[in-house]
Amino acid sequence: MNKTDSERMASILQDMGLKPTVDEKQADIVLLNSCSIRESAEARVYSKTNNISKLKRKKPDLIVGVTGCMPGRDKDGKIERRLKEVDLFFKNDEMVNLPKWLCKLNSEFKKIKTPKEYLNIKPVYKSKFQAFVPIQTGCNHFCTYCAVPYARGTEVNRSLKDILEEIKCLAEKGYKEITLLGELVNHYTAKDSQYFSKDNIYKKSDFAKLLWEVNQIEGVERIHWTGPHPIYMDDEVIDALTLPKQINFLHLPVQSGSSKILKKMSRRHDREFFIDLIKKIKAKKPDIAIGTDLILGFCGETLEDFEETLSLYRECDFDIAYPAKYSTRSGTVAAKNFTDDVSQEEKKRRWFAVQDLMEEITLRKNKEYVGKTVSVMVETYKSGWCQGNSSELKLTRFKSSEDLTGQIVCVEIKKADVWRLDGDLV
Ligand code: 5AD
Ligand code: SF4
Repeated sequence: MNKTDSERMASILQDMGLKPTVDEKQADIVLLNSCSIRESAEARVYSKTNNISKLKRKKPDLIVGVTGCMPGRDKDGKIERRLKEVDLFFKNDEMVNLPKWLCKLNSEFKKIKTPKEYLNIKPVYKSKFQAFVPIQTGCNHFCTYCAVPYARGTEVNRSLKDILEEIKCLAEKGYKEITLLGELVNHYTAKDSQYFSKDNIYKKSDFAKLLWEVNQIEGVERIHWTGPHPIYMDDEVIDALTLPKQINFLHLPVQSGSSKILKKMSRRHDREFFIDLIKKIKAKKPDIAIGTDLILGFCGETLEDFEETLSLYRECDFDIAYPAKYSTRSGTVAAKNFTDDVSQEEKKRRWFAVQDLMEEITLRKNKEYVGKTVSVMVETYKSGWCQGNSSELKLTRFKSSEDLTGQIVCVEIKKADVWRLDGDLV
């Protein structure tokens, strides 16, 4: 979400006559798009802002801004007070005011008009063939550990017409892979459902209907979406995993394998529900690769609870996981009401245990690809190697005399390790 927000801000700045630079010393404006998900993410923003402040002392005209999740969750102004030398401190959706604020700070910048809704600002897409398309922002779930509902506000769904127009426009420009984004992406609700086609095969879930519509757009070849919530994986959404352009990968966060901890996290489902859901998904699409998110050492997580996370991992046979040590976020229910009682040492130990299990399972699963052919979207070409992600989102490379960046090709896998598949172009 932050990446797509940055693409929108880049487009405002470009329209105001500014050019991007990789050299901070050359910059007239530095905007830091912050993440609040864990303490370590915010620590990086504080340290980066300190460095930029040193630059500002040498170059007083430099405009420094901090946006993203930190301003969103800074209800009492504590964060802003810590970021002393910052000129602009604003939430993502306030980026529409950037032209006004920047022109006030420097009258040489070109004044421009922006759409009222920030999601309707046309982004400067970083890639020429893959694009993020946000369909929703914010979240109403208030999982007890999570800063997102505070940082991004409650769920706001983008209009179906705007989403489809953006994707059609991308397809016309040659974009092949679309990633639909939202905090509760599979809870998408269209406020303008009259734009769904009459022959849409889905009847109940607006998200499944949207996936079907995107599947019909000529030029789009791969559809990816993130991140869903398990409780909204209804039968239609599961069926939509079999749509022809849908990639063969699903990221489905579980956070914990213990029903007691899931309840304390307010995840709204238990261990059995999740395991049954994975079975249902695999029954529909047996070869799908599945990834998850895990939080380790949440308040009150005992060794038995952690063992349940490991056993759920084995049972679901995930292809990849993003484990995170629990980090207290001020303002959340957990910060207010629970004790962060698992030591750092123990969180680290549990993190490594998950990492080891993941490497063991991922290696076994990756080896099953040897001899098979996968479809790869080539993203880079360096020193005679093309590299990109397979439809299962497995990093894959192959030798090539030609730069095939931006193309979707078939690769026969010859070798597999934990983090990469190696093969030959078919
Ligand atoms: N501590 C650690 N990890 C967290 N996540 C969200 N909040 C926290 C927190 N307070 C993780 C969850 C989520 C992912 C985006 O970040 O696993 O799915
Ligand atoms: Fe955070 Fe996701 Fe829970 Fe929303 S559903 S509160 S974004 S973890």
